[in-house]
Amino acid sequence: MRVHIADHPLITHKLTVLRDQRTPSPVFRQLTEELVTLLAYEATRNVRVAPVEIQTPVTTTMGVRIDEPRPIVVPILRAGLGMLEGMVKLLPTAEVGFLGMVRDEETLQPTTYAERLPTDLSDRQCFVLDPMLATGGSLGAAMEFLFERGAQDITAICLLGTPEGIAKIDEQVGDRDVTLVLGARDERLNERGYIVPGLGDAGDRLYGTV
Ligand code: PRP
Ligand code: URA
Repeated sequence: MRVHIADHPLITHKLTVLRDQRTPSPVFRQLTEELVTLLAYEATRNVRVAPVEIQTPVTTTMGVRIDEPRPIVVPILRAGLGMLEGMVKLLPTAEVGFLGMVRDEETLQPTTYAERLPTDLSDRQCFVLDPMLATGGSLGAAMEFLFERGAQDITAICLLGTPEGIAKIDEQVGDRDVTLVLGARDERLNERGYIVPGLGDAGDRLYGTV
């Protein structure tokens, strides 16, 4: 598995405001969108393109366009939905699929409550969106879902990840083609399965449930 951890002052600045418990939901949503767009730049580095000939006002030249079949973006509901707009700004032609998952706050095990994905993902580049990679249970389950549908090329974008979560995904995916793009690798998980220092519950902060 390839792991890319952003190392850019703009991303660290925006993450710092996001982490601040005083940051209200509207600002949190805006920053989440901006961060995803910045991370998507790295995450789409290997997006498949095809050559195309165009006519400029001056001459004919070769360029590229995003290739078929279109990439698919899969936000993990609820919190991943806050990342969707920022991603499709950069990849407006992508298809969007959905996975709804919630983790039991006692056992930390995820359950899937919604799914809307194509049945065959074997030739699709898949971009999974989830702001928080904590234990890795939710992202790991999402990846299994995609692998079962034939996915062979998965990139996950998370704002924050833990060493524990990254190690779990790495072990689970083995030698499959998976890339993880993170805004930051935080210190650790706490005893309640929260990321430290983290930003609290991403879904609650995005949607004003606190
Ligand atoms: C959060 C987050 C991830 C998951 C991460 O979702 O958005 O999906 O927890 O934790 P894990 O790595 O230990 O699985 P949550 O289950 O709180 O649902 P929500 O998005 O509806 O808030
Ligand atoms: N989910 C969150 O939203 N935050 C955490 O710190 C861990 C899981």
